[in-house]
Amino acid sequence: MGFPKGFYWGGAVSAHQSEGAWNEGGRGPALRDFMTTDKKTRKRYLTYIDKDGNKCFLKYDEGETLPQGAHFEVFDECYYPDHQAVDFYHHFKEDIAMFKEMGFSILRTSISWSRLFPNGDDQQPNMEGVCYYHQLFEELKNNGIEPLVTLWHDDTPASLEERFGGWKNRKLIEFYGRYAEFCFREFKGQVRYWLTFNEVNNVLMFLDMFGGQPSDDKYQEAYQELHYKFVSSARAVVKAHEIDPNNVVGCMICGVPFYPATCDPKDIMLNFHTWEKGIFYSSDVMCRGKYPAFSKRLWAEHNVVLDCTQQDLVDISKGCVDMYTFSYYMTSAVTTHVNNDKVSGNFAAGVRNEYLSYSEWGWANDPMGLRYFLEMMYSRYELPMMIVENGLGAVDKLEQDKSVHDSYRIDYLRNHLKEMALAIENGVNLIGYTTWGCIDVVSAGSGEMKKRYGFIYVDKNDDGSGSLKRYRKDSFYWYKKVIATNGADLD
Ligand code: BG6
Repeated sequence: MGFPKGFYWGGAVSAHQSEGAWNEGGRGPALRDFMTTDKKTRKRYLTYIDKDGNKCFLKYDEGETLPQGAHFEVFDECYYPDHQAVDFYHHFKEDIAMFKEMGFSILRTSISWSRLFPNGDDQQPNMEGVCYYHQLFEELKNNGIEPLVTLWHDDTPASLEERFGGWKNRKLIEFYGRYAEFCFREFKGQVRYWLTFNEVNNVLMFLDMFGGQPSDDKYQEAYQELHYKFVSSARAVVKAHEIDPNNVVGCMICGVPFYPATCDPKDIMLNFHTWEKGIFYSSDVMCRGKYPAFSKRLWAEHNVVLDCTQQDLVDISKGCVDMYTFSYYMTSAVTTHVNNDKVSGNFAAGVRNEYLSYSEWGWANDPMGLRYFLEMMYSRYELPMMIVENGLGAVDKLEQDKSVHDSYRIDYLRNHLKEMALAIENGVNLIGYTTWGCIDVVSAGSGEMKKRYGFIYVDKNDDGSGSLKRYRKDSFYWYKKVIATNGADLD
């Protein structure tokens, strides 16, 4: 059992869940800055003022959009966890030193678009933001860590949402294009691994999983948003290669493998179609450069008419990604039968799978599902693969002596690594692994701090209190050994 020589070991965070400093250094607000925190079983809301001056809450995860004439607003009575997050902005040197101590050779993070372009479409960049990322990438380089940079991690500049309706508007292709090109030029030589959109397929998959019974209009919006993102991504890939042939660009797919809950042929067909819609639709466009044949059926199911030009299709055909990059946490089971044993939790859906155990947040623990996804996607696309998110969100206890005994996290990661090694043995060209939230960050789904993933504990609580001090968990020392032995010693 083994991992190839030069395999990238590391961790992943996103700007909005780690940086904080939401209104420092000339940064403009992003959508996420208006997102409140809530209980694990409830959705998070965006706060805004409507055209008549009323305070309102928007259910973003359910596809609600900002009404005409409204603007986002911070309410004194609400808590916004991303405002400070874990203050990576001011702690990055200390944090990178700890990543180096573990032996990381790669760190995935994202650039906050509104830190570079406060309104998203500014003619001139915010130089303080540019300078911050230069320092960050330099620090990584000095510590022998390769940056893997996501250009968009669910944090569209708020101004673009308010003025243009965000990704519902074709203009976003142009604005994202300018932002992406700027990044490729500015950080040339510092960054060569890029991801265009985090979990791009979520727009559609989440609508099915959590949207109740969405109307055709909601599907129209979701497919349209995805199309604009596909075009943006493809154009970015072309630009990235043009600016620096060393650039390697990946898609970023939320990798949820689906299982049929029974072997009733109806369940098998439903399962296959769920794969098509949730996974293959996005992956095929980004890896093969064209819409798959089944797209016509998907669009027809909801009377979708895409705003799609000939040029869009040409761009998509030219901008195929260089690697298949994805996140993996859990599997989900689907059925056509009446089954009330549903999974619930943040971002968890489908029916309960009796062969699996579930985390406190309802996420199925299924290491073999990771191997299933790796092998399935490799045989479909034969592109180099990287797992850029994987991990266990759990409640950790900081002991009196500041240790954290997270054996459950070690077990989770060990079992997933074993399956990765088997996939490699089966021929999958897996080149790297970045565990999610290598340092504790704000949960995207629930906004909590107590849903922790890190090897490094951050003293920060759900209500925003805490010293922000960092402490090594047991998993820190375990991962260090795993990396030092290139995955040979998983004990
Ligand atoms: C992925 C996102 O969906 O899952 C991350 O890309 C997110 O941003 C991660 O944090 C884990 O989800 P959660 O809800 O536990 O933070």
